[in-house]
Amino acid sequence: MPVDASNALLRWYAVDKRRLPWRPAEGEAVDPYRVWLSEVMLQQTTVAAVKPYFAAFTRRWPTIGALASAPEAEVMAAWAGLGYYARARNLIACARTVADEHHGRFPEEEAELVRLPGIGPYTAAAVAAIAFGRRAVVVDGNVERVVARLFAVEEPLPAARPRLRALADSITPSGSSGDFAQAMMDLGATICTPRDPDCARCPLSDGCAALAKGKAGVYPHKAAKRPKPARSGTAYWLENEGHVLLVRRPGRGLLGGMTALPSEDAPQEAEWQEAGRVSHVFTHFALDMRLLCASAPDRRAPGIWWPVERLGEAGLPTLFAKLAARGAEWRSHTLQPAAPQARLPG
Ligand code: ADE
Repeated sequence: MPVDASNALLRWYAVDKRRLPWRPAEGEAVDPYRVWLSEVMLQQTTVAAVKPYFAAFTRRWPTIGALASAPEAEVMAAWAGLGYYARARNLIACARTVADEHHGRFPEEEAELVRLPGIGPYTAAAVAAIAFGRRAVVVDGNVERVVARLFAVEEPLPAARPRLRALADSITPSGSSGDFAQAMMDLGATICTPRDPDCARCPLSDGCAALAKGKAGVYPHKAAKRPKPARSGTAYWLENEGHVLLVRRPGRGLLGGMTALPSEDAPQEAEWQEAGRVSHVFTHFALDMRLLCASAPDRRAPGIWWPVERLGEAGLPTLFAKLAARGAEWRSHTLQPAAPQARLPG
């Protein structure tokens, strides 16, 4: 990008940047821990969804050292609802590696950052640029869209990805690379939006090839998506005197390490009743789960017998939180005596 375009973008950012909780306030130093944590949370996840989790994590674990010493199950439970749970497992592993092998300080070079658990090329570039001011090419979905429009790239995504990255590299300045990266992201999030970009307010409109063709909104082109395969399964709500049976899922695989209702095999023989279905879309497939409910005569089935009244604190991922809501409905119809009818006086 010509120097004056990159300056125009940085000037726009200085005034119009989003105030986000992981960005330091005026005059404050940038904290690599907050940059890393926010970038991991923001992978595949919107700013709006991340904000409350970022606030809760930094309140509870204000430093990398605090997070490194936290019990894994607590971190997994705090992550519940944010999705892509491998990120939480890697988050703990990364915090522990930084604490144990790097004296609690993140390495500053992209090439070293990328060797840490859960840090891929995107996150390594973002942390190097934003936390340490290194020149790095930071490309997320917003940046891809801005670049595809600036250069009117005709090739569709995902095949265009290497080209979009090379073009992003070609316009990244040698200084202010953290601000430049975040300016591109903010531009994509607020002005160069997927539909109806607001080109009249765009600091880059002069040099935008897509706008010159009069069709900024049509880029980036995208290859047709394949429909997601459908899968189905069964989850079990087994309850005894106000407690429901939960299990911790195995460390690897779908929702690995998370607390959940038992699924696939029934935890014991019982008079199982159908209590509805819940569907949930994951990255690579759509899942339709049926829920079977029963009450148990005792708490012999192995797992975590959790008080139903405190299910909100159990750290269930969204699929199982939806199933548990069905289970709670089932018990309110089935197990609780009907509330006495109010009688009118007279
Ligand atoms: N999305 C991912 N990282 C971001 C950041 N640092 N600022 C704005 N949006 C982002």
